[in-house]
Amino acid sequence: MISFDEKNQVFKLDTPNTSYLIGIVDGKYPGHIYYGNKIDDTSVAYLLRPEEILSPDRCAREKVSFLDAFPMEYSCGGAGDFRESSINVRAADGQDGLELLYASYQIFPGKKALEGLPATWGSGEDCDTLEITLQDKATGLMAVLSYTAFRDTDAITRSVRIVNQGQETLYLTRALSLCLDMDNENFEVISLPGAWGRERRIQRKPLGYGSAVFESLYGKSSHEEQPFAAVASANCTQTEGKVYAFHLVYSGNFMTKLSVNRFDSLRVVMGVHPERFYWKLASGESFQTPEAVMVYSGQGLGAMTRTFHRLYRDHLIRSPWKKKERPVLINSWEAAYFDFDTEKILGLAREAATAGIEMLVLDDGWFGHRSSDDSSLGDWFVNEKKLPGGLKYLADEINALGMKFGLWIEPEMISEDSELYRAHPEWVLRTARREPAQSREQYVLDLSNPEAADYIYEQIRSVLSSAHIEYVKWDMNRPLADVGSLKLEPDRQGEIMHRYMLAVYRMQERLLCDFPELLLENCSAGGARFDPGMLYYSPQIWCSDMTDAVERLAIQEGTMLIYPLSTMGAHVSDCPNHVTMRQVPFETRGLVALAGTFGYELDVRKLPEEERAQIPSQIALYKKYHGLIADGEYYRIASYQENHLYDCFEVVSQDQKTALVCFVQVLAEPNKKSRRIRLQGLKEDWVYEAGGQRLTGRTLMNAGLLVERMQGDFQAKLLEVRLACRI
Ligand code: GLA
Repeated sequence: MISFDEKNQVFKLDTPNTSYLIGIVDGKYPGHIYYGNKIDDTSVAYLLRPEEILSPDRCAREKVSFLDAFPMEYSCGGAGDFRESSINVRAADGQDGLELLYASYQIFPGKKALEGLPATWGSGEDCDTLEITLQDKATGLMAVLSYTAFRDTDAITRSVRIVNQGQETLYLTRALSLCLDMDNENFEVISLPGAWGRERRIQRKPLGYGSAVFESLYGKSSHEEQPFAAVASANCTQTEGKVYAFHLVYSGNFMTKLSVNRFDSLRVVMGVHPERFYWKLASGESFQTPEAVMVYSGQGLGAMTRTFHRLYRDHLIRSPWKKKERPVLINSWEAAYFDFDTEKILGLAREAATAGIEMLVLDDGWFGHRSSDDSSLGDWFVNEKKLPGGLKYLADEINALGMKFGLWIEPEMISEDSELYRAHPEWVLRTARREPAQSREQYVLDLSNPEAADYIYEQIRSVLSSAHIEYVKWDMNRPLADVGSLKLEPDRQGEIMHRYMLAVYRMQERLLCDFPELLLENCSAGGARFDPGMLYYSPQIWCSDMTDAVERLAIQEGTMLIYPLSTMGAHVSDCPNHVTMRQVPFETRGLVALAGTFGYELDVRKLPEEERAQIPSQIALYKKYHGLIADGEYYRIASYQENHLYDCFEVVSQDQKTALVCFVQVLAEPNKKSRRIRLQGLKEDWVYEAGGQRLTGRTLMNAGLLVERMQGDFQAKLLEVRLACRI
């Protein structure tokens, strides 16, 4: 629901449990009034403190004081607001500054798509949109602030379309997606920092005066930070307290900055990173920012998590696979690395098929003359020496075993040792004066050049048409450095990072149009592109190259904080683990991987017999619970990252009749008793069968259950809770 109160000049956006209010002061300045639990009134413009923050119409001599204190809906740079700006332009004379003033609005049911960008979607029954148009007289720049309030979930999304309606060419020097000014309430900030093999660790710290910045300048979204931040009240737990969360639907460079100033006001801004960015806007041209998602919960972090899960499941992921059971796969990477041929892969497939595995994924090393990571990226034709008969023969043989066939690709890259590089050295992302730097012995393709992007896409399309390939793992294994294009005009070089992302999105869109049934999994050196932008194209993303089950607990907990479980690629791998050398029982590895999209990443032929024998029952468990895990409501019960001893989460079916509890005893402390866990999300009055008892939901959620102590470290247990009868 969205309304406009003419008299008070207040817009009110409501979701089922939250309200967001914007007021227009003096018919010019859009200011942020309120965001939080749902309220009733629109006569609340007094919260803009008109008697303290005197508007220029009332006190022209102190306009700067107003601009620097007023809670701006979209902050402009260079004209008197000294806090973080959301937008700024440089004109041809080199001067900057903007004052975007209110011009008009419109409210309509549904939501527009964002041209060229991934975004949440919804029909007129799902959501309503408010567009507020702002104009800067001096430059002729127009900004349309777009807000969508969802009716079935507590999310509000925002984006901005910027149009140069003036005569002069302008250069946008920043164009962020979101700005939110509010009173600071001793908030803490939650973010998801990480690294390769250690993605998305939950970090929480006091906010205080000054700024907290979470950003990526790597040209990909999410190894070091996630395009996510939340501010939470200090007492906020899983079930209680306030939290405001922000997430950018974007896969490239981003910045989230949270600043508390001398007036104890907090400004949050989020969007495409302004560093290394400028965008030329000739007269009549426009720029679309990515979309930012805002979620408020007055009932702790758990409710925030479930809102994100619902929004992404119902209004972001488009794949026909999203609600379908995904095939249990075996990936060749940790099983063979680059050392394989047709016979080895078929041997792996045969053994996997007898164990009930449903799809074989051929990872890196099948193309050009690639036998290590030093060559052939860009040469997307099969290495017939390794794979005589090509992918068609291999896929047919694998299909004959009753298995599907999937393939790894890394389309955005180019090796120096490749036919493509020899033919088109100018297609490398590079500046004219300097030799580009290698990473993993590879360069990045200049995808801002449509000729290069189209060529590569056609190569990939022809590979995928050459055999029955039902799944693709789209990888991206290095950051973007030497960001220059030999093709793009000099005054557009600041556009490359964003143009690159637009080209990746376009390629993935084309892929899905050309192969509508394809199951696409995005990946970037493990989980460096785990972001909502990618989810718009692929229903699952490879979570991390860290496949050690114990390390995975923290990675998956951080991921599940905002992403539905069905989106996490999670595989059982070999022991000792290739990175940590840790030995974890096969059963535990299986139960940890069950939380996500399940598969294997090992040489099944070399597994000890007692482990191999467990595969069919692991697959049966996955099949039994996948629907519940993919579609259920997630509750975090205990965090190994916090207690360093054990981990526990629960998934409850939408009808609240079934719940599954996953418990991992990481360390078996000596001389300790069983653990008490309190369930969540059940119907208080219903009677459930749980742990051999019949108990009401109220008892299970308040008094809880005991999980027996198990013998040894790294033990796991699944507990099923089922409705026995309703009272
Ligand atoms: C990345 C991926 C791995 C694997 C390798 C292949 O690191 O995360 O899963 O595909 O590339 O080179």
